[in-house]
Amino acid sequence: MVVVLGIESTAHTFGVGIATDKGDILANVNDTYVPVGGGIKPTEAAEHHSKVAVDILKRALKEAGIGFDRIDGVAVALGPGMGPCLRVGATLARYLSLRYRKPLVPVNHAVAHVEISRLTTGFHDPIIVYVAGGNTMIVTLVEGRYRVFGETLDMPLGNCLDTFAREVGLSHPGVPKVEELALKGKRYIRMPYIVKGQDLSYSGLLTYALRVYKEKKYSLEDICLSLVENAYSMLVEVAERAVAHIGKNELTLTGGVARSKILNKKLQIMAQDRGIKYKPVSPEYAGDNGAMIAYTGALAFAKNIVIDVEESSIRPMWRIDEVDILWRE
Ligand code: FE2
Repeated sequence: MVVVLGIESTAHTFGVGIATDKGDILANVNDTYVPVGGGIKPTEAAEHHSKVAVDILKRALKEAGIGFDRIDGVAVALGPGMGPCLRVGATLARYLSLRYRKPLVPVNHAVAHVEISRLTTGFHDPIIVYVAGGNTMIVTLVEGRYRVFGETLDMPLGNCLDTFAREVGLSHPGVPKVEELALKGKRYIRMPYIVKGQDLSYSGLLTYALRVYKEKKYSLEDICLSLVENAYSMLVEVAERAVAHIGKNELTLTGGVARSKILNKKLQIMAQDRGIKYKPVSPEYAGDNGAMIAYTGALAFAKNIVIDVEESSIRPMWRIDEVDILWRE
């Protein structure tokens, strides 16, 4: 068994987790930067991360009740994500690696969302719908890698709903607020529904929803209902085709939007229709967190995936399908 400390700093959350490759989560301490007006500014988020980093690290070690002597490796999410934010986590990881002579383990943030979902659902080989503020994709393991079976061509679903929420004056976090209003909506307004083969496009839908809002012809509730209906149905359509094509019998939802009641219901219905099992990642690990980096880092470390400090430059555009998943046979 190996114990790995993992650092998350790809976007708005700075987190430190401690986990074993057997799936014990010993610590998970996170702090999220909430932008005041406007979207997330990478430099401001990075500043937040550097301010809280040491405190979060100390709290994680305290929560786990262990010292650095018990840590076998230091994992860090090197990407994908925002450069200034990634640099904070990478710098801390390099320091800890050198200071305590612990191997450095590179972790892909998207792979970590997948692995924490597999861990908390107990699913062995699921098809994964990964939806967050920064990502929207459907993946599953094929020949040693998480291959993409559909993704957004422009903005992620979470970003689409968050931006809409912000522009119409709803407070952060946007997705639950938009859903709350959507559930009160009564009338569906026709909006763009853009699916291109297995890929999705959300920017046209966002622009349209905002235009309709400015025209003041419909209630905000009806606009939210229609926006959410299209955004989620597009995703479920693509996911269903992936399920039909791939032929696996487990489906999971991971990422920040995995807490969505409406999306969960839609995926549940689809899975039931197709006679497969459905379970989302457990809510406490839906959003970005240090534990998922630690756990994925532990899986990787157990397979000897380590890098030198010199090779630990950040990878803002690192795709999930570029990673060899050596811990799965
Ligand atoms: Fe994420």
